[in-house]
Amino acid sequence: MSATKPVVFNNTVLRDGHQSLAATRMTTKQMLPVVGDLDSLGFGALETWGGATIDSCVRYLNENPFDRLDTLKKLAPKTPHMMLLRGQNLLQYTAFPDDVVEAFCAMSAKHGMDIFRIFDALNDTRNLVTAIKAVKKAGKHAQGTLCYTTSPVHTLEAFIKMGAELQEMGADSVCIKDMAGLISPSMAYDLVKALKANLKIPVALHSHSTAGQAAAAYYAATEAGVDTIDTSIVPFANGTGQPDTVLMLAMLERSARKPSYDAATLQRVREHMEKVYVEMKAFTSPSNEKTDADILAFQVPGGMLSNFRNQLKEQGMADKFDDVLREIPVVREALGWIPLVTPTSQIVGTQAMLNVKFGRWKMLSQPAIDVALGKYGRTPGKVDAALLKECEKKAGQQAVTVRGADLLAPGMDKLRAEVKSKGIDPTDENVTLYAMFPQEVEKLFKNIAAGIKPYDIAPAPAKKEATGGKASKFALSVDGKRHEVTVEELN
Ligand code: CO
Repeated sequence: MSATKPVVFNNTVLRDGHQSLAATRMTTKQMLPVVGDLDSLGFGALETWGGATIDSCVRYLNENPFDRLDTLKKLAPKTPHMMLLRGQNLLQYTAFPDDVVEAFCAMSAKHGMDIFRIFDALNDTRNLVTAIKAVKKAGKHAQGTLCYTTSPVHTLEAFIKMGAELQEMGADSVCIKDMAGLISPSMAYDLVKALKANLKIPVALHSHSTAGQAAAAYYAATEAGVDTIDTSIVPFANGTGQPDTVLMLAMLERSARKPSYDAATLQRVREHMEKVYVEMKAFTSPSNEKTDADILAFQVPGGMLSNFRNQLKEQGMADKFDDVLREIPVVREALGWIPLVTPTSQIVGTQAMLNVKFGRWKMLSQPAIDVALGKYGRTPGKVDAALLKECEKKAGQQAVTVRGADLLAPGMDKLRAEVKSKGIDPTDENVTLYAMFPQEVEKLFKNIAAGIKPYDIAPAPAKKEATGGKASKFALSVDGKRHEVTVEELN
C-alpha cells in the first residue's frame, strides 16, 4: 500500500449502526429512501446483513432476511455488501454442522452477499475453516477476523500469528474487530503496522466509540497503513456505535489518506436517519449515545453495562453492580481469557452474576461449563485447573480437544424434512434460517401465509427492554428455581 493512498470507509449504518444504538430494529422500509444514496457514495462496502439483523428480522420485524438482502442488493448494486458471520455458529450461539454452515454461506452468496466478515468468539481458527472455505467456493470475499481484547495472552505476537494463520487459510483480508471499543490509538497503530508488515492481504479496523477512543484509534490506524475502517451515520453513530463518517473525514483533514465522500449526499442520508431514529425511540437510549471511558477500567463492553444495571435491579441486587463488574475479569481469567463478544459476553456476564449472587463457582451455568470443557473451541489461555475439574465432574465428561463441529452429524436432511412437515417450502434458504431460529421462522411463515406484511416500523415491546443490541433471555435453573437473565449481543 502506498502511504498516500486514501483509506477506504465501509459504512455500517444498515447493520452495526442500528444494532449498537437501536436494538437492531431498523426495518427494510426505513432503509429504502437512502439505499441509493449510500450506494452512490462509493464506500468500500455497505454492511447490510448478519450480526443480529437476521434474528431481528424473523423475531421482531416479520421480515424474511433473504428478502431484505434481495431488496438492498437491488437498490445498491454498485457497492459490495458485507455481512458479519459468527463462524461455525452462523448467527446463533452454538456450533452448527458443517453442511448447514456450507448451505447458509452458499445461499447468502447466491442472494448477493459479497464480503463475509467471519469471526469466532474464542479466536479459535478451527471454527472459521468451514465458513471461509464455503465463501471462497462461492467466489466471494472471506474476511478473517481477529476479535480484539486485552489480556496477558492477547499479545501483539499472538494477534500477528493469528492474522498469518487466517491468511494461510485463504482469507482475502483480515479485520481487527474491536467490538467493545477497547483499542487505544497506540495499540491500533502498532497492531496495524505489524499486520501490514507481516501479511500480504488488506487489513481492516472495526471499532466502537463506547469509550471515546475509536475515532482516534482509526486515525492512528490510517497512519499505520490500515486499508479500511468502518464508519456509520449520525444518529446511528458514535456512542456504542461506530464513529460517524463526517467526523472521520474531519479527523483526517490535511492527512494524505483522507478519502472523499460527497458531503451533500451524506447530509441527505443523515437527515433521513434522524427521522428514523425518532421513529425508533422505543429502542434508543441515552446510555448508548454517550461515550464513557469507565468501561476501560473493567474492560467490559458498554452494552453489557447498561443491561447489568437493569438486570441487577430486577433481581434486587442493584447494590451489587460494582461487585459484578469486578467479577467479570475473574471469570474471564478462569475461562482462559476469552474475549467478550457474542456469545462469550453473555456467558461471562451471566457467570459473574451467579458468582456474586451465590458465591464464586458455587453455581455454574451450563454454557460456562461448556466453555471450560472446550465445547465452544480452544480458549486463548488455560482454563483454571480447579474450575475445569469441577466442570468435568458436573458434566460427567472430560474436556474435548477436537473442533466442536466434528462431533456433530450432518444436519440438512433432517432439517429439510422438519421444515417440510411444518408446511414450509424446504429451500436451502428456509432450511438454514429454520436451523437457527426454528420457532420464529415457523411463526414468520405462518404470518406470511396469513398475508401479514413486514412491519414498516418495529412494534414497541410490551415492556421496555434493556437497551443496546438485541437482548436475549437465558433461562437458568438454580436450586430448582428458574432465573431469567437478559444479555446483550455484542458484535
Ligand atoms: Co461491531
